[in-house]
Amino acid sequence: MKLGVLISGRGSNLQALIDACANPDFPAEIALVISNRPDAAGLERAIKARLNSQTIDHKAFKDRESFEDELTNALQNAGVELVCLAGFMRVLTPKFTERWAGKAINIHPSLLPSFPGLHTHERAIEAGCRFAGATVHFVSAEMDEGPIIIQATTPILANDDANSLADRVLQAEHEIYVRAVRWIAEGKILIKNGSVSIEGIEDEASYYLPTTKRSV
Ligand code: GRF
Repeated sequence: MKLGVLISGRGSNLQALIDACANPDFPAEIALVISNRPDAAGLERAIKARLNSQTIDHKAFKDRESFEDELTNALQNAGVELVCLAGFMRVLTPKFTERWAGKAINIHPSLLPSFPGLHTHERAIEAGCRFAGATVHFVSAEMDEGPIIIQATTPILANDDANSLADRVLQAEHEIYVRAVRWIAEGKILIKNGSVSIEGIEDEASYYLPTTKRSV
């Protein structure tokens, strides 16, 4: 399955996908990396991995739709079958989300539907949550909504700050993003009545506890 990865920054989730795709058994390849920011560090990762990459700078377009039309053109021209948002910091319009319905996924650093949007770790700590985590979900018209594919949890420790928590959650993000892409590429994911069912996979595989060892 051909992936198009959209980034805006560091690109550690992109790196997790690059590393996964380097395994000949992995059922997907990265056909294109697009950054909306020319200075995104993740672009270096794409170049180092000799991937097809480009910047489509949202500032060069008169409105969101024309920016997104350019994204869609580039993705289509590269034959992309699954769009992976990986720290892509632009709100998407319904035109884009409808074009890619069921074919675009996002990684979000919270246990959705709690804490959509930004500053998720600060907000989880402030709310006194005992667990934080990350979610991979299909992209829908509403930001950080859409059918959930897989989640990972990690405890919030008494001395955690947003950075220490973010580091721990990020490791889990990398695991679950790769796992979700594999399932989609293997045709194991079905969306029924707005929620995801995963064929032939044990229940325990669809959540991930980084503090436990579990093989899939
Ligand atoms: C991750 O925490 C991801 O969940 C969120 O933005 C961050 C991107 O990090 N959407 P990176 O660019 O993948 O390192």
